[in-house]
Amino acid sequence: MMDVGRHPNIELLTYSDIEDITGYVGNFTAYVRKKARYVDENECTTCGDCAAVCPVVVPDEFQMGLGSRKAIYISFPQAVPSAYMVEAEECLGQNPIACGRCIEACEKKCISFDQKDTLLELNVGAIVVATGMDVYDPTALNEYGYRRFANVVSSMEFERLISTGGPLEGHLGRPGDLKKPERIAFVQCVGSRTRNPEKGNPYCSNICCMNTIKSAQYLKDNYPEIDITVFYMDLRAFGKGFEELLMRSKESGVRYIRGLPGDVEEIPESGSLKVIVENTTAKRLENHEFDMIVLAVGARPATDTESIRRLVSLSKSPNGFLKEAHAKLLPVNTPTKGVFIAGCAESPKDVRESVTQAGAASSKTSILLKKEKFSIEAITSVLDEELCKKCGQCAAVCPFNAIIWEKKQVPRLVSAACVGCGSCAAECRYGAIKMRHFSDQAIYAQIDAILDENPADKIVTFACNWCSYAGADTAGMARMIYPPNARIIRTMCSARVNPEFVWYAFKKGAPVVLVSGCHYVDCHYIDANRSTVRRMDGLWNGLEKAGLRPDRLMLEWCSAAEGGRWRTIMDEVEKKRLSVNMEEIDRTGPALEQAKVPRPVNPKPTDEKTKAGFTCMRCNYQWRDLFRTGIERICPQCRSNSIRWIK
Ligand code: FES
Repeated sequence: MMDVGRHPNIELLTYSDIEDITGYVGNFTAYVRKKARYVDENECTTCGDCAAVCPVVVPDEFQMGLGSRKAIYISFPQAVPSAYMVEAEECLGQNPIACGRCIEACEKKCISFDQKDTLLELNVGAIVVATGMDVYDPTALNEYGYRRFANVVSSMEFERLISTGGPLEGHLGRPGDLKKPERIAFVQCVGSRTRNPEKGNPYCSNICCMNTIKSAQYLKDNYPEIDITVFYMDLRAFGKGFEELLMRSKESGVRYIRGLPGDVEEIPESGSLKVIVENTTAKRLENHEFDMIVLAVGARPATDTESIRRLVSLSKSPNGFLKEAHAKLLPVNTPTKGVFIAGCAESPKDVRESVTQAGAASSKTSILLKKEKFSIEAITSVLDEELCKKCGQCAAVCPFNAIIWEKKQVPRLVSAACVGCGSCAAECRYGAIKMRHFSDQAIYAQIDAILDENPADKIVTFACNWCSYAGADTAGMARMIYPPNARIIRTMCSARVNPEFVWYAFKKGAPVVLVSGCHYVDCHYIDANRSTVRRMDGLWNGLEKAGLRPDRLMLEWCSAAEGGRWRTIMDEVEKKRLSVNMEEIDRTGPALEQAKVPRPVNPKPTDEKTKAGFTCMRCNYQWRDLFRTGIERICPQCRSNSIRWIK
């Protein structure tokens, strides 16, 4: 950290917030608020005279609330820059100066309450997002008694308790009475790997097993007399040297019991803790007693991940961490050109992995910045200004903020930021936005070619390039047999499917149309396939209004690895096709001639939850549930994504 602080090419802005980011690869502008520290960071010698006289005492966040600090403080001993700062909301002397003792105590005169926040405008070519993670708060897990019992602590609190820089200066003691514990239990997977959202997160937090093994080994090395028990459901000690450490820990006498405590009770007289646990290896219920319990809490996305995600147009995984452009091939790239991710912002990971990723992200950044010119793929959209009605719907659906629009103005397309998902072209009802590749003409020509002969026998299928098209490929490679009459039209994203294409295919005699793409949270264009869902809802309503069966149009998500799912989908669509009779097909053309192509009005999906009714277009199952556009809609009965939302 010191190296970063001293590096001539690195400008370190601590205690600062990013307020906005605009622009595109090679030309981003970051608006940064550098908050007032009220201490001149270049003059402060960290003598601590100011803190010694400060009368305000508050819990110290760095010590996880187990210690205290003053309102003027240094955030942690190795902080860079090494300088004190005043927490304005805690200080008595802010407005008006009621105290000012620190000012008097500071010989160097480096404290000034007149300091103001500074607004900086930084022009940068690339961005690395490394916002880290937070830990799960186990208070909600009543069975462990966290916060109810003083001697139940989280793994983060335990780290502070045994640290030489911690509140006990490295002397082991339990928080309740500062006595040295003789029996310590570690409980694994607290807030991780659960399907119950009230009990935590479904994913493995990756680092807790090794952290516990390390802590247990530390205790055994320094206090061999302490009795240590680890309760776990699985121990995940993968990685270089990890298994060896686990073996060492077992050899040192750490006891590992497979099973998580069902209940923890405090013995009031001694402050010790009684634990009831089902030992799933010995298949018996056991009672244990400990002096202290450490909960190995899981990781969760940092609080500000969502705001950063919105600022730089990034995708997020279902767990809320930021999503890479490709899990295997582009692990530090994001869908937004010029933006990279590193560390736990992407997923929980250990130091070694974080350092590797940080190295990869900085290499990618320097490769990018070294270039004099940056080439982009030509799959971008272009605007026909004469056809444009200045409605701004294109800008509203662009997941990359590549379209800049001001009210009653013709939008401006930033080609460098455009990645060619085609959502804008599908949204524009005036045909003012065209794609350079996967053009309307090319798609109409494919529909014509499919339906020119025996249209009633064909399945018109739109498949996105990244997932469902690749899923079809996987099915083919695995020699899975699926209906040979499926005709696939490849688009970059399912959001490229203009409602007009579907209307046209039905008018030309298609018995069924399938639109397919990546799973909801896997869209390679951030959240573009939310627009697909919205358009499909509009199309289903439009078909019904025209007196046609809406279930002739189907929507299915399929990933590149799901060859088997692709076969099932195609079998189901074929069944649907066989259920459409000639009379229906003949009626379709004239009915749709009369009807307008449905366009959903609200282009921006929201994350609001509302109770809504759903019908599955595949199996007709109906149910009511909370509706939120940010989650994948799946039929509980047949697992289809052809879910029609009925208010
Ligand atoms: Fe596959 Fe968007 S890229 S649906």
